[in-house]
Amino acid sequence: MPKSVLISNVLPQDALALIPGDIHVDYHASDDPLSKADLITRLRGKDGLICHIISGVDDDVLAASPALKVVSNVAVGFNNIDVAAARRRSIVVTNTPDVLTETTADFAWTLLMAAARRVVEADHFARSGQWKRWQWDLLWGVDVHGKTLGVVGFGRIGRAVARRALGFDMRVLYTDTVRADAAAERELRATAVDLDTLLRESDFVTLHTLLIPETRHLIGERTLRLMKKTAVLVNAARGPVVDEAALVRALTEGWIAGAGLDVFEEEPKIHPGLLPLRNVTLAPHIASASYDTRVAMSTLAVRNCLAVLEGKPAITPVP
Ligand code: DGY
Repeated sequence: MPKSVLISNVLPQDALALIPGDIHVDYHASDDPLSKADLITRLRGKDGLICHIISGVDDDVLAASPALKVVSNVAVGFNNIDVAAARRRSIVVTNTPDVLTETTADFAWTLLMAAARRVVEADHFARSGQWKRWQWDLLWGVDVHGKTLGVVGFGRIGRAVARRALGFDMRVLYTDTVRADAAAERELRATAVDLDTLLRESDFVTLHTLLIPETRHLIGERTLRLMKKTAVLVNAARGPVVDEAALVRALTEGWIAGAGLDVFEEEPKIHPGLLPLRNVTLAPHIASASYDTRVAMSTLAVRNCLAVLEGKPAITPVP
């Protein structure tokens, strides 16, 4: 019986080309998410699903797809998939770690630097014709070098962000449920602390946790109020790790100085309170969006799917 796969959104040609001709492909070549009903209908009889984070693969979807053997997410995050339900049904779930680590860390730093040095405001100022003369006190920002960086979630991406801080001669604090080994702490000159200490002492706080029930609204009113009034918050992890309504108050009322956000609680909606604020830099979930990385993510996702369909172990199963 030939195998069949649903690709629920657009993928680059380099990835599509890896799929052998004898596999039947149902390709939804669009950036629009399939509705739950359409996802269920199109998954009927499929052996594999290759999907992006905009496909919600919950227990209902899995229950309606008894032939399914693998859900291959084109992302390192997998909060769009009910992994426990998949396991119960012996469906393998895979993600795309490693290939996006450095690109995502680059972008967390992009947001950090943009927020610290007010790059977006400067761009608007320069191109809007407001720049009439050299001005001593124009668009002062805050220094990054020599300051304290707090990394919340010290996995691959958190560590890659910390590594970049060495070049800025920063003190690095981190918090994670698992302490890094001594060699990693030495190499990155990073010190493990609890979350509250990290928030109290850091000038820049960057989030790199998974979205799980324990991390939902990890950054909310209580934790934002612990941060320095001069601190900048960066989120390139998942939107719901931050309580956006509390963040709006923090930025408006000066509990913290600024933020750089790539992710939001209800993407693509952005909390309306964030939009008029000058002290927040906003991006539309593009931290991994370089050409090379997006191709690497999608080819890894296809390879994961094919491996399982061939009866081999997945390359990068979700742990
Ligand atoms: C990821 O890999 O989890 C990204 O957020 C998807 O763009």
